[in-house]
Amino acid sequence: MDDALLHAIAGRFGTPTYVYDLDLITRRRRELGRLLPRAALRYAAKANPNGAVLRHLAALGAGAEVITLGELERALRAGVEPPDILVGGPRQDTELVARSSEAGVGLASLDSPDQWRIWRDHAGDVQMLVRVNPGLDPRTHEHLATGAATSKFGLPPAAALELGREVADAGLLAGFHVHAGSMIRDLAVYDAILDVLAPLYDALPGRPLVDLGGGFAVPDFPLEAFARRAQRLAAQLGARLLLEPGRFLVAESGVLLTRVLHVKRDGPTRHVVADAGMAELLRPALYGAVHPIRVVSSGAAAAVASGPEDTLDIDGPLCENADRLGRDRRLPAVAAGTLLAVDEAGAYGFAMASNYASSPRPAEVAVEAGVARLVRRRESVADLWRLEIEPPP
Ligand code: LLP
Repeated sequence: MDDALLHAIAGRFGTPTYVYDLDLITRRRRELGRLLPRAALRYAAKANPNGAVLRHLAALGAGAEVITLGELERALRAGVEPPDILVGGPRQDTELVARSSEAGVGLASLDSPDQWRIWRDHAGDVQMLVRVNPGLDPRTHEHLATGAATSKFGLPPAAALELGREVADAGLLAGFHVHAGSMIRDLAVYDAILDVLAPLYDALPGRPLVDLGGGFAVPDFPLEAFARRAQRLAAQLGARLLLEPGRFLVAESGVLLTRVLHVKRDGPTRHVVADAGMAELLRPALYGAVHPIRVVSSGAAAAVASGPEDTLDIDGPLCENADRLGRDRRLPAVAAGTLLAVDEAGAYGFAMASNYASSPRPAEVAVEAGVARLVRRRESVADLWRLEIEPPP
């Protein structure tokens, strides 16, 4: 998205605003299709559940991976075909299971024997995966290391096999599922996963699917090398590959537009206070995530952006040190009113935004073929107490 368009969007819809380039999502989807032509895709809706994004991916045949009733209803509303929906995660309670089954979802990934006891009564034609905890170090931030032995996800291999047998006896076992973590870059992780999965597929042969989850790091995931390895792994297990990417499909499509409120140059660290921070984009505060930040230059702002570079902290407008978008960034001279773009913000950006400090959540705009359209209006201040119940007079 070029800077003139981003300027126009900020002018028209204000800031902070999330902007998603739907054409980039299309390109990512096609890249996966080209390199992994036989893999089934279930887009992890948690990365970005906006209806416009879900509808776009549904039209590209991405399917959906959902973990809550809210995500399930959003996926259905967006036109994802129920057989292309995979229900997973620790939440699966009677409400989610009953609704999933009624809607006719295709697959569920069992995270515990208790979940199977619920599904057994509702399964109908829903095929099951059993989630395995591979007990490995996926070399990512500890919050994202879902495949670590100490994490709550899945079952250790021996317990997964035991549950797998039970599900197979009921005629519903489609295969096993491993989501080793998020922001994975080290492909050796997939060799370790094969070592864990091979004995399970040997013990319960003839399973049609193997689900390797999502987790591809952004940017610069070695997709070609991954595709070769993943296809080899699936062939060795005699199963079709299923993938649940979230971030890979949407992160780079998204920009958070934020405007500089104040600049403070007097202390030992120079601070730019922007109108977005941890309430709008939590990832830097929660994971120490580094998002590229740049000045959006166009027209009059181009003159500002051409000034000398400064090293700056880009902070948010709230009252704690964690309220920060980036540290020690080299940016051309910025001033109050400068428009900044925080890149790679399309995944887990708006999805994790909150109303902390009574911050109304940002607007969301989708761009397709160069045309911008508002897809979620900015929350108003009155929205903040819309659900509160006033005391009787
Ligand atoms: N499948 C399962 C079972 C998952 O738990 C997740 C993400 C995905 C697929 C998609 O992973 P992805 O391809 O997007 O990495 N809030 C964190 C990310 C948490 C991911 C949770 N699970 C962040 O902002 O980095």
